[in-house]
Amino acid sequence: MIGIPAHTLNDGTPLPAIGLGTWPMDDTEAERAVRDALGVGYRLIDTAVNYRNETGVGRAIAGSGVPREEIVVTTKLPGRHHGYEETLASFEESRRRLGLDRVDLYLIHWPLPRVGKYVESWKAMIKLREDGLVRSIGVSNFTREHIERLEKETGVLPAVNQVEMHPLFPQRELRAFHADKGIRTESWSPLGRGSRLLADPAVLGVAGALGVTPAQAVLRWHTQLGAVPVPKSSDPARQRENLDVLGFELAPAQLETLALDPPQRLGGDPETHEEF
Ligand SMILES: NC(=O)c1ccc[n+]([C@@H]2O[C@H](COP(=O)([O-])OP(=O)(O)OC[C@H]3O[C@@H](n4cnc5c(N)ncnc54)[C@H](OP(=O)(O)O)[C@@H]3O)[C@@H](O)[C@H]2O)c1
Repeated sequence: MIGIPAHTLNDGTPLPAIGLGTWPMDDTEAERAVRDALGVGYRLIDTAVNYRNETGVGRAIAGSGVPREEIVVTTKLPGRHHGYEETLASFEESRRRLGLDRVDLYLIHWPLPRVGKYVESWKAMIKLREDGLVRSIGVSNFTREHIERLEKETGVLPAVNQVEMHPLFPQRELRAFHADKGIRTESWSPLGRGSRLLADPAVLGVAGALGVTPAQAVLRWHTQLGAVPVPKSSDPARQRENLDVLGFELAPAQLETLALDPPQRLGGDPETHEEF
């Protein structure tokens, strides 16, 4: 089993350097995949209300035999539950489905600026942390402006911002802002959803030179930039492959080669994407 090093978040808690994504798994698939992943050494699991698999994730954790305090369980507040009271109620439902006393990392899934209630949700998340029901609070898909508003109105910065990031969309400016504010970047779709990115000549070139797979070269790119990728795989062999990325190094020129310009999103734009 591979021991995964951890970053220390701005609230003093540890976050493993790489985790497992669980979208689009259903409960049955998530239970099997998370059980396999915990077995090979994953200690960070990423789910969300909208993935509809919190129950399966919770079952896998309960049956894993891994000490609870070793696992960082992340879930996310959906758009339809934005608002102070709604957030508290949604959290209770997530906690019940996960079967946990405490959630380790709780994120606002999307900012939904048109709805305009993310600050209210953020205040509820601060309360959940104060009450000891959540260990760390963060956001997902927030821009610099959204985070500055949270800081201005509450004085509390997120520990994490989970955003789309991969070599086709390297997030240079947002990562610099995060570094300035002590916010840890998590990368979603870190493999570019496994599509053409893993067949890109630049990725194949770096992987070939290092004697690793294209997915490993890409995941090492994330971790060397200080971002925490949460690749999804339901396949035990690929889960192991994706975790085994900390024993080699990309040279500075290889890091640059893998940032493929011009940036191209695969997912939604946080200013306009509406997901409830
Ligand atoms: N916060 C957000 O708004 C947001 C949005 C999207 C995703 N996410 C999170 O981020 C996680 C990851 O993103 P994602 O699932 O979109 O994309 P991804 O992790 O970039 O790619 C997953 C795809 O790559 C394949 N794959 C995995 N490992 C591989 C390997 N070593 N070689 C070749 N193919 C491989 C997987 O297939 P197999 O399963 O068959 O291996 C799957 O088809 C999600 O599961 C979710 O937890 C968050």
